[in-house]
Amino acid sequence: MSLIVERVRVAGPANGGSCVARVDGRVVFVRGTAPGELINLRVDEVLSKYSRGTAVAILEPHPARRIPPCPFAGVCGGCDWQHLDPAAQRALKSEIASGLLGVPVGVAAVEPDDFGWRTRMKYASCDGKPALHKYRSHELVPVGRCLLEAANPQTRLGDRVFQVAPDGFWQPHVAAPQVLTEAVLDFLRPQPGQSALDLYCGVGLFAAVLADAGCQVTGVEGNREAVANARRNVPAARFFAQDVGKAHLGKADLVVLDPPRKGAGAHVMRELCTGGRIAYVSCDPATLARDIRAAAEFGYELGGIRAFDLFPNTHHVECVALLIPS
Ligand SMILES: C[S@@+](CC[C@H](N)C(=O)[O-])C[C@H]1O[C@@H](n2cnc3c(N)ncnc32)[C@H](O)[C@@H]1O
Repeated sequence: MSLIVERVRVAGPANGGSCVARVDGRVVFVRGTAPGELINLRVDEVLSKYSRGTAVAILEPHPARRIPPCPFAGVCGGCDWQHLDPAAQRALKSEIASGLLGVPVGVAAVEPDDFGWRTRMKYASCDGKPALHKYRSHELVPVGRCLLEAANPQTRLGDRVFQVAPDGFWQPHVAAPQVLTEAVLDFLRPQPGQSALDLYCGVGLFAAVLADAGCQVTGVEGNREAVANARRNVPAARFFAQDVGKAHLGKADLVVLDPPRKGAGAHVMRELCTGGRIAYVSCDPATLARDIRAAAEFGYELGGIRAFDLFPNTHHVECVALLIPS
């Protein structure tokens, strides 16, 4: 039987989509709420250092609370912040990223900034209907068509068409290739003839714009099929199918890295900090902050930071950091 705790005042947001509340001095990470709300919460899980819970009644709502447009919000595990309008979501992402990175981080809106932005959806099937998973569960919710899905998804940057395997990685937001390549080029300021590394390069998105700028580009990516596509997509660059952590990277004038959520880690950061400019594209400000701290040990400092709301209605945020020799 679940424990319901009544009239709990919610404190600040935590990285990961929940907000922090305290019950009898103990921290509870609560889903489905927002800072300042007065709620009744259900305790879902009690762990040694904290508990997890869900808001089951909102007694005093956040001023930006809205009725979630999707009938499956709160049940399906996909959108955890649909109960807030997009501007309030960005304000919370900014607060979380600023806290983790130790500098002010404004999160820019990117159109579409609410629904219809997702380039790729992976549905399961439930009784023949497209379905998504419930939060932290193998159970399925038959959702039909998810509201996040883009009406006209494109695997494309400007006129350049990229080949991607059906289950391979491509940036989830329709505008992400444009927004992220612009930020990376702005930070790196590539010049013809410079050497450039594109690490965790997928099918060669950043390699393409660096090669177009006249750089000698080397891409490294662990997925062999992605590397085969990168070679077709960007014939001017060379690509290696390798674990970045095990690759001998050598010196480069410019580096862009776009690792998965767990980040690059201290070993890779040490390999990269050899005097060039580094643009670090990250979908998790916590691991980005850890890797920036590692870079500081190897003589680098933060030269700039941009953040974009490339995952509206979820707690996720995309950051691009410039790292330069200090
Ligand atoms: C966030 S995606 C970025 C892809 C690409 N930069 C883009 O924008 O399309 C991360 C990529 O890192 C690759 N990857 C994950 N771990 C890796 C590792 N240890 N070494 C090399 N590639 C890795 C994944 O296969 C994936 O393609």
